[in-house]
Amino acid sequence: MSNGLATTFTGLRFENPFLLASAPPTESESNIMRAFDAGWGGVVTKTIGLHPVTNVAGPKTKFLRSTPESGHLSMQKRPGSALHSSWNWELISDKALDWWIPRLGRIKKAHPSKMLIASVMAGSGSDEELRHWQELAKACQNEGCDGIELNLSCPHMDRKDMGSNIGKDPELLSVVTVAVKEVAKVPVWAKLTPSTTDIVVEAKGAFLAGADAITSSNTFPSLPLVDPNTLEFEMNVDGLVSPGGLGGPAILPLSLAKMAQMTQAFPDKSFSGIGGVAEFAHALNYFLLGCGTVQVCTAAMLDHAVGPNIIKALTTGMAETMEKRGWKSLDDFRGLLRDRVVSHSQIRRPEGADYRGGYEAEGYAAS
Ligand SMILES: Cc1cc2nc3c(=O)[nH]c(=O)nc-3n(C[C@H](O)[C@H](O)[C@H](O)COP(=O)(O)O)c2cc1C
Repeated sequence: MSNGLATTFTGLRFENPFLLASAPPTESESNIMRAFDAGWGGVVTKTIGLHPVTNVAGPKTKFLRSTPESGHLSMQKRPGSALHSSWNWELISDKALDWWIPRLGRIKKAHPSKMLIASVMAGSGSDEELRHWQELAKACQNEGCDGIELNLSCPHMDRKDMGSNIGKDPELLSVVTVAVKEVAKVPVWAKLTPSTTDIVVEAKGAFLAGADAITSSNTFPSLPLVDPNTLEFEMNVDGLVSPGGLGGPAILPLSLAKMAQMTQAFPDKSFSGIGGVAEFAHALNYFLLGCGTVQVCTAAMLDHAVGPNIIKALTTGMAETMEKRGWKSLDDFRGLLRDRVVSHSQIRRPEGADYRGGYEAEGYAAS
């Protein structure tokens, strides 16, 4: 495709900057093959671990919908409602590395020009566990994977040294990133959790350790709502629930705020934006803040499992917007609005009025 959509990100050539995120759309060989046939520039596999995991009984994902007139929010399907968010408590792939290995090789052979990124995860409490990260990374790159994404952000972990608990600990995430970089011959992306006070601190840890890019956001820790008729959580097993992850439209503005913090702090680094993207107008936000690729999960799950119509809309929307604006490539608009996010005191006040960031007497401050 020579339509101006092609882009280079962390040294990898993407025919377009849109990837399926690590999640159910990328959980199998057939899904990934279908996704590539549908036009996605790349995919990040469902997170691969060394050992099989067991998911909860019953559904692992549901969709929260709002009724526009009343504002009612519920997971129950009903006519006229609009998607608010996805909620999931799905763990990483229930297929372990051995299952994935031959499949990764076959996918790459069938689609050599598409970018196949392997998402991997292990514990990090001992040298042996750090070697697990290395084993996963080496095995995936040996099968031809073009990059490795470190899952430092899964929100469901009980262990203190796994998933988002690594992503909240700048030292631990540096240790893991260094360990993987020691063996990696392909770019390494660090997928961070948004569940942190100042994500710039974690981003700095990842970059200092050698990460080639940061991916953000994973899902936001959250609970399903209580059904007022049954007084049960709308998603539960035997009446019990644990915090899960929120994705979809509701997290787009939240994820953008995290992204803006990072792209401003590290304007020369590479970022892959995720969260609430279903059409090009959504993705454009991430690009204008400085992202070089954008990933999609929830919208694709709701569109034939791998988003054939979503990727069509994303590429068509990007091509039309570029044509209208006279942009020749993503480089012409990446980061255009990055410096427009400023501190409150830098926003203009009405004529004659002034605001000094709360430091000097101005009504509510002591005079
Ligand atoms: C059901 C489900 C499973 C997911 N599994 C993973 C996973 O295995 N690894 C990972 O890094 N992110 C996982 N995610 C997070 C997504 O990759 C993505 O970061 C998040 O859903 C936000 O994007 P969205 O708003 O497009 O859904 C999962 C999300 C959902 C909804």
